[in-house]
Amino acid sequence: MKKITVIYKSVYGTTKRYAEWIAEELKAPLFEAASVKPAQLMDYDVVVYGGGLYAGGIIGAKLVSKNPCKSLVVFTVGLATPEITDYSAILNKNFTSEFLARTKIFHLHGGMDYGKLGLAHKAMMALKKKESEKMPLNERTSDDRALLETYGGKVDFTGRGNIQPLVDYVHAL
Ligand SMILES: Cc1cc2nc3c(=O)[nH]c(=O)nc-3n(C[C@H](O)[C@H](O)[C@H](O)COP(=O)(O)O)c2cc1C
Repeated sequence: MKKITVIYKSVYGTTKRYAEWIAEELKAPLFEAASVKPAQLMDYDVVVYGGGLYAGGIIGAKLVSKNPCKSLVVFTVGLATPEITDYSAILNKNFTSEFLARTKIFHLHGGMDYGKLGLAHKAMMALKKKESEKMPLNERTSDDRALLETYGGKVDFTGRGNIQPLVDYVHAL
């Protein structure tokens, strides 16, 4: 039996929800990243780390990219639609090529409730909206269109079924 743990960092709860589902499926203990000491990572055969996507960053991921793990699986949670999003720029910004070569990464669909955003995040999203609006229609990406359609409202794309490929992958390790 492999010793598995799930660790996450979440601001508004969608990454936490996925982490809870994954921990439940894998029957693994769940920890918030802030409560984990780097040395504890080596206590597990497999570490599953989840972080929300914020302006191209995977929050809290330094815990697992700067410290050794025996085997690591990372999942990101963002508003971008995973099936049609190219994550290479995000991955190359957050991780080294050596890290990427030894780490399996999954991307899960999150959500956003504008009413619950903190002031700084509200301001960042307002700026993004302005940038998307300025862009000529034919140059807007699916992200731009989704942002403009959902701006100010509440969207939730989380679903327990989305974790299945990750769960299957960990079971097969
Ligand atoms: C300021 C801000 C920046 C964001 N940047 C990105 C991004 O670069 N890519 C993305 O897919 N989603 C982005 N999002 C959406 C979040 O990743 C999404 O709401 C996610 O579900 C949040 O996870 P959490 O609920 O665990 O905090 C951003 C959200 C905010 C508020």
